[in-house]
Amino acid sequence: VLEEKDAVEAAPCAHAASRAHSLDAMPGPTNWPLVGSFIDLMRKGGLTRQHEALVDYHKKFGKIFRMKLGSFKSVHIGAPCLLEALYRKEGSYPQRLEVKPWKAYRDMRDEAYGLLILEGKDWQRVRSAFQQKLMKPTEVVKLDGKINEVLVDFVARVVKINNQGKIDDLYFELNKWSFETICLVLYDKRFGLLQEKVNEEAMNFITAVKTMMSTFGVMMVTPVHVHKRLNTKIWRDHTAAWDRIFSTAKVYIDKKLKKIDTRAPDDLIGDILQNSCLSKKELYAAITELQIGGVETTANSMLWAIFNLSRNPGAQRKLLEEIRGVVPPDQDPCGEHIKSMPYLKACLKESMRLSPSVPFTSRTLDKDIVLGDYAIPNGTVLMINTHALGSNEEYFDDAKQFKPERWLRETSTINPFAHVPFGIGKRMCIGRRLAELQLQLAMCWLVRDFEIVATDNEPLDVIHSGLLVPNRELPVAFIRR
Ligand code: HEM
Repeated sequence: VLEEKDAVEAAPCAHAASRAHSLDAMPGPTNWPLVGSFIDLMRKGGLTRQHEALVDYHKKFGKIFRMKLGSFKSVHIGAPCLLEALYRKEGSYPQRLEVKPWKAYRDMRDEAYGLLILEGKDWQRVRSAFQQKLMKPTEVVKLDGKINEVLVDFVARVVKINNQGKIDDLYFELNKWSFETICLVLYDKRFGLLQEKVNEEAMNFITAVKTMMSTFGVMMVTPVHVHKRLNTKIWRDHTAAWDRIFSTAKVYIDKKLKKIDTRAPDDLIGDILQNSCLSKKELYAAITELQIGGVETTANSMLWAIFNLSRNPGAQRKLLEEIRGVVPPDQDPCGEHIKSMPYLKACLKESMRLSPSVPFTSRTLDKDIVLGDYAIPNGTVLMINTHALGSNEEYFDDAKQFKPERWLRETSTINPFAHVPFGIGKRMCIGRRLAELQLQLAMCWLVRDFEIVATDNEPLDVIHSGLLVPNRELPVAFIRR
């Protein structure tokens, strides 16, 4: 206990450069030759349990600790004061960990990079082309019609495929819903993924995104140039998936560009395409990456919101009361209604705190900085542990409980840097506003039309597979109100 306490106290938030220790003095799990802390992590349940291991390490070593897995070194941050300090020292072009497999594909095919992988001035140029429209709530709210168009079909589908309240493979259905929505927003195109008979092109597209996502992880921990040189199956599957994604996206971006002069008033992306000075190649990459970034993250957050509401009928009742008080019975929920729904917003925030989809994000330092008590050199990879922050009792009372009310207290003491499900600073998620509106509207439609009930109350194991996912089918049922 003493050892743990000492470690925690060794990383206070007040810091002075003159006292800064070197990185070697930072606490962390035992670092064995060659493997680093890999064996310890495996003992804690392996990579699929890494989010829990990180919570344990923060408890043991404190607000900041270092870790090495094989040759990959990182410094982990799990305190709002350190995140705030990092945010204040942020340069003009913050950088995340490199996604080498994605870059290798683009380089091979001479395609551009999008926001997920761009760096430096090029990142800033592309970001600023999209930032004004996509991060502004008054702009994004114009998309409520498109979001609702897909929600009408989603609700109809929940009624149709409902087997005594149960929906088979709810996660896949939610992925189809978010895919359909983002495609409508980006390309003005309905793919018909929520129809009985899904068209082949749409299925191939969604399967390609799935394959691309499931093949890049291995090439993040083993050298991608070796996969490329040996033409491994992983590399072949990965590149074939990207080929399919790019060729489909290009067709729809081209169609959109052709009719750009006659665009509708809610065509945010059309406005961006027309007003930006990005090349066609850059637009292809940027739009394709918006799509990649927006599908599973949104579906996953919706899955957890459904789960949390099913396990908290009191909160669901309160939410229903708010919906019924704001949305007249003869109207559909829209962006304007959401503005008067603080409890709805609190429910979503609380769900994303308790069950974040993206457990951590990263920053690669582009200069030496002092953080906590430590001098951290240029090039170090920092991991921002969103999940560990949200589950820490120091920052959230009764952290394991779903309590939307905590966000509504007039004298809330919640530190904004303790809740970062969309990341922080200049490089924060650019789809945040769109995702929030989409999730809030979906919660309105679902809770208004269905009682979401828990079909068992057994604990639900959470595993890390890129995002945090439940390890079994969600035990929920949708009962028509
Ligand atoms: C980046 C989460 C929805 C596109 C990120 C990051 C996180 C995140 C944690 C990293 C931020 C950082 O490093 O500080 C989420 C979650 C979502 C969501 C939880 C849904 C609930 C979306 C949507 C889109 C999108 C709908 C597209 C419209 C992107 C892009 C980036 C990004 C392009 C990279 C931004 C940059 O580096 O400039 N997202 N996201 N995301 N997200 Fe999202």
